Amino acid sequence: MDTNYNVLLIGSGGREHAIAWKLKKSPNLGTLYIAPGNPGTAQCGLNVKLDTGDFPKVVEFCKDHSIDLVVVGPEVPLVNGIVDFLEKEGIAVFGPQKKAALLEGSKQFAKEFMVKYDVPTADYAVFSADEFDDALTFVQSKDSYPIVLKADGLAAGKGVFICDSEEEVKKRLNTLKHDSKLQDAASKLVIEEFMEGEEASVFVISDGHSSHILHNAQDHKRIGDGDTGLNTGGMGAYSPAPVLTDDMLERVKVEIIERTITGMQLEESAYQGILYVGLMITENGPKVVEYNCRFGDPECQVIMPTLENDLLNLMISTTEQRLDELSIQLDGDYRCCVVLASEGYPGAYEKGKTITGLNEVDDESIVFHAGTKQDGDDVITNGGRVLNIVGRGSTLKQAIDHAYKNVKKIHFDGCYYRTDIGHKGLDRVS
Ligand code: AMP
Ligand code: GLY
Repeated sequence: MDTNYNVLLIGSGGREHAIAWKLKKSPNLGTLYIAPGNPGTAQCGLNVKLDTGDFPKVVEFCKDHSIDLVVVGPEVPLVNGIVDFLEKEGIAVFGPQKKAALLEGSKQFAKEFMVKYDVPTADYAVFSADEFDDALTFVQSKDSYPIVLKADGLAAGKGVFICDSEEEVKKRLNTLKHDSKLQDAASKLVIEEFMEGEEASVFVISDGHSSHILHNAQDHKRIGDGDTGLNTGGMGAYSPAPVLTDDMLERVKVEIIERTITGMQLEESAYQGILYVGLMITENGPKVVEYNCRFGDPECQVIMPTLENDLLNLMISTTEQRLDELSIQLDGDYRCCVVLASEGYPGAYEKGKTITGLNEVDDESIVFHAGTKQDGDDVITNGGRVLNIVGRGSTLKQAIDHAYKNVKKIHFDGCYYRTDIGHKGLDRVS
């Protein structure tokens, strides 16, 4: 690889801090800009103010700063077509084009795609906004609960409802119909069979033709211990996930990943970038719960430290369609990430609490910032998910213990975290 690639990374969460931290290790990195970034990414490169929803402005920035590669962290710019826009201007971008990002941007598209290419997933039906009465009739005819209602489009994790009764279905149909925040996402509705099993996710890097599994992880979506309470963006993750045995991973590769990558080629939407495959491991094998067109957050925070490859090289090889020349190297250890959140999250919470203890974590653990802000010499809270503490171990138990030992060194008013990250994995290995 030639030297000194200037990179613009888009995003501001823990995922982007983890990507920036890993890119920074590349000997071929020139200047790394992060838009808008956070106090953690500021330790890896230059945070810049840039309206990343304004694509012409992004092009202007790339030209002014001789950017060689743009890396897009979150889904919204991808689904809105940032890759197509920048590529037309001759700028290399790591991430899927708009048509390929539909795998996350439209659940209807994803479901129809999976049926067409024989990718195992839950049975489903689709209704448009003016067919909500038909949707109810459909649910009544099934008379099988729980049943899952999903808004078709992006809804920041707030468009999926698992309903235990007809009453709840009626209530949620009303939410989907009337909640102004869901209007765009819920112009179509997907109703899905409920899949019983344990969830895990597999992260694939693909250049459209060749692909590799980077690694796997398990997220903890609910706010409370024992997977109780409201859904969140993710309260912690660990990697690898023991539920994904070698046999199961082989099935995921053959029945899901190969069919997905080939299917997207046949659709003339070759998938380039990170494909997040959210799985339910059922008694009949792996089934897809969802596709995402980006890294997971906090799953990225446990995968980046495990990956031994040069991430910049992987990303450049992806944009140049040379992934077949590389193989993925992992360090073989476990990682566990505990998310520290603001009290009240995922509902209303206060910001501006001073964070202490950041310098007291040991050298082997990593703190990735998310909702934080620099305030003079202090770092203060500035979001729902505030910090990610990542521990390492040669066993899952060691990684979990290591993460929690360091969690206890960090303080801010109203700091909340789950105390059981990794519990399902531990149950399987012990
Ligand atoms: P999604 O945004 O489609 O991933 O859905 C969010 C979460 O809802 C998933 O991570 C699962 O925990 C749950 N979920 C979604 N679809 C199903 C399903 N068909 N069966 C069981 N759980 C589901
Ligand atoms: N942690 C779940 C997600 O990134 O979608």
